[in-house]
Amino acid sequence: MSQPFSILFICLGNICRSPLAEGVMRSVLQERFPQREFLIDSAGTNGYHTGEAPDERSVAVAARNGIDISTQRCRQLGAADFNRFDLILGMDQNNLMTINRLAPAGSSAVTGLFTAVARDGFAGNSADRGEEIPDPYYGGNADFERVYRMVREAAEALADRL
Ligand code: 4NP
Repeated sequence: MSQPFSILFICLGNICRSPLAEGVMRSVLQERFPQREFLIDSAGTNGYHTGEAPDERSVAVAARNGIDISTQRCRQLGAADFNRFDLILGMDQNNLMTINRLAPAGSSAVTGLFTAVARDGFAGNSADRGEEIPDPYYGGNADFERVYRMVREAAEALADRL
């Protein structure tokens, strides 16, 4: 049997943006393709928050939109991820630079910026030009709302391509 299509979302801390991307993507795919299996996960380029639950402001904005991300736990991106996932998507250019630096030679994963891959697809070259999903960590609720809207839009667009 073939492996399920798999997507790994990456941000810096894996407590604000990528947990939202993981939760929203899983929810969108469940709605669109209830019969299909996917592997959806998230990780951070740093390990400062390893083992922690997502930021409470991300948990709250997800909950306001009917999505529970409270049981996710933070982990750091590692070399093994490059052979486990079809797509590894960064929220911003710094994330993408780190992803590409860590990619082992011969890695099978396609890497790119989340919004760019959602817009342009992932066949062929990696997509790296697009809007960054801004880090809301030092911001307020409005920043988390904006991140949620951007993540939702990109997740819907990416689902159109699956
Ligand atoms: P994230 O946000 O990359 O969206 O999870 C951040 C979370 C934590 C930190 C920075 C960004 N931090 O510096 O601890």
